[in-house]
Amino acid sequence: MTLYAHITGWGIAVPDKILTNDDIAKMMDTSDEWIRERTGIQERRIAGPQDSTSSLASAAAIRALEMANISPWDVELIIVTTSSPEYIFPATASLVQDRIGAANAGALDILAACTGFIYALDMVTQTIRSGAFKTALVIGAETLSRFLDWTDRDTCILFGDGAGAFVLQASEEPGGVISSVLRSDGSGGELLSIPAGGSAQPASARTVQDGLHFIHMNGREVYRFATKVMARSSEETLSKANWDIKDISLIIPHQANKRIINAAARGLKLPIEKFVINVHKYGNTSTASIPIATVEAFEEGRLNRNDKIVFVGFGSGLSWGALSVIWTGPFPIEKAVPFKRLRFLARLISWYRRLVRKLDGLIWGRKGNSA
Ligand code: COA
Repeated sequence: MTLYAHITGWGIAVPDKILTNDDIAKMMDTSDEWIRERTGIQERRIAGPQDSTSSLASAAAIRALEMANISPWDVELIIVTTSSPEYIFPATASLVQDRIGAANAGALDILAACTGFIYALDMVTQTIRSGAFKTALVIGAETLSRFLDWTDRDTCILFGDGAGAFVLQASEEPGGVISSVLRSDGSGGELLSIPAGGSAQPASARTVQDGLHFIHMNGREVYRFATKVMARSSEETLSKANWDIKDISLIIPHQANKRIINAAARGLKLPIEKFVINVHKYGNTSTASIPIATVEAFEEGRLNRNDKIVFVGFGSGLSWGALSVIWTGPFPIEKAVPFKRLRFLARLISWYRRLVRKLDGLIWGRKGNSA
């Protein structure tokens, strides 16, 4: 029996606050014209104090579950891919598991920078295709605005916050990810990094003073690398799937810079209309950019059942990759899952688990003291 991993639900969540190029131009020496011309970006979303990577990820996940009509209890695996995790540990995926009440799920994070969603989607597909799991969530979520030096015009114009989630479910019908290309070139690691806060340079007064906890980037080199790999990896995944480029309805690329997407279109000799582009609205939301662009393409009626599409991305690592995908949703809903009640129950369970842990701690503390 051959199994496939279908994308049966999808959802996004972006912060309410919009930061326009003009807003940034009031903070530093740049202009709306320069940013639009060099990147295509017009505005981006910025996380407010109430937002976090896990809150955005959870909101997107709940929308995706509602779309797939899957109860959080039926989710067996949650993978969050993020370059702005809530903590070094615990995994942001575990926080999401608790927030959405996925009491029966395992949870882990995958870090492959802006290529993370491609990697995570492929990993989840392979676990479903192996028969290990039937239902999983893959989420790309970012609050990169918290890692930006808001005096550095090279980087802070580029990035934005947001999250996108897919539900994947096993089926014997062909569909979902059909082929993949995942690549890395660690020799270019220093071109785009957050140098401090990890074990190489643990956070200290000096690392903070030197701004090493912010994103550092060599924009020109990253640009050169990106324009080389986008078309090449798209062609590689198509050849692995045995598909012709003419069969492709849409290419959904990582949204980093409109000029990079234009270069990919030229490389593949495709009209730019075949590409989904929404970088003007959100900037570069890293791991969230591909699912956000997918959901918007669907909502605009550009994605239909059985369409053959390509997801392609690149990022820090250096890393890059592409997937050939058959789009199969949405699926008809026969009986709606009572989400509100399930989520309320999930909150109660989470609260109960915390209480039991506290009481347990008190009892053990007393026993320990009297022993
Ligand atoms: N506003 C105004 N001027 C700016 C500026 C800004 N925000 N940022 C840089 N400049 C200036 C530079 O200082 C430079 O001035 P100089 O010629 O006097 O030295 C000039 O603009 C050109 O800089 P350059 O770096 O060559 O610009 P560019 O055309 O390469 O565009 C990027 C810069 C960052 C937009 C572009 O290199 C890029 O998109 N790189 C890829 C980044 C990326 O996608 N990262 C995420 C990967 S997942």
